[in-house]
Amino acid sequence: MLADSLAWSAAARAGRRIGHAVEAHQRIGSTNDRARALLDGSEVEGIAVVAEEQTAGRGRRGRTWSSPPGRNLTMSVALQPRLDAADAWQLGLAAALAAWRACGEVTAVALKWPNDLVAPDGRKLGGLLAETSLAGDRLAAAVIGIGINVNWPRAEMPAEIAVSATSLSELAGRSVDRVALLGALLDALDGEVARIEAGESPLARYRAACSTLGASVTVEVGGRRIEGVAVGLDEAGALIVAAGDERVAVTSGEVTRVRSAVPA
Ligand code: BTN
Repeated sequence: MLADSLAWSAAARAGRRIGHAVEAHQRIGSTNDRARALLDGSEVEGIAVVAEEQTAGRGRRGRTWSSPPGRNLTMSVALQPRLDAADAWQLGLAAALAAWRACGEVTAVALKWPNDLVAPDGRKLGGLLAETSLAGDRLAAAVIGIGINVNWPRAEMPAEIAVSATSLSELAGRSVDRVALLGALLDALDGEVARIEAGESPLARYRAACSTLGASVTVEVGGRRIEGVAVGLDEAGALIVAAGDERVAVTSGEVTRVRSAVPA
């Protein structure tokens, strides 16, 4: 069901590759699926799909993404990135940087590796799900889906979410304009994707925004639980964890938990 596209379409900008148009839904399964279907059906990339409510919102690692109707930002965009398959990892970091930049226009936030948006106290307020498909050694398509808790009071969150989550309005102490946030997000995403396609690694910018670096972490890799300190990122964006004499490179596909002050 289409939503009030007029309001959301104020976030579109003609001529911008990512977000030249916005398709808004009142209720949909997953915006990631709709964005992918739009690309497959028309070969037109960059249409931002937003939904007031998702009935099958997906998170990373097979989790669901819960968001009450009309409060938050749930958005996806499908692209045909001009990237080698080997550089696909850069897309997630670039999208995380874009979300960090857009939220940073509202209040101070940080990135928890690999791509969670967190408050200064570690509470999560957003995340992203990048789904890619390959054609040989190139990326054929990518769907970047971003969910941000915008105007969702913690008092209204289910207890299991409230224990470790927050929202932009909680942090800013005021309600936040979701359409303006979407516009800022699309601007930032357009810029970040162009930079990585031009061969500029997102790593330096990502390191500066990532609050996991320097923190004590517990990661589970291949069934093994490792406690240590996150000391850096390698050249492919993997988290380097120092545990005693050992240094372990953790990829986002492997990690099951990164410990922080607030439960993950
Ligand atoms: C995570 O932190 O686990 C990632 C959450 C990603 C949620 C967004 S909401 C818009 C898009 N549609 C989905 O089904 N998932 C992503």
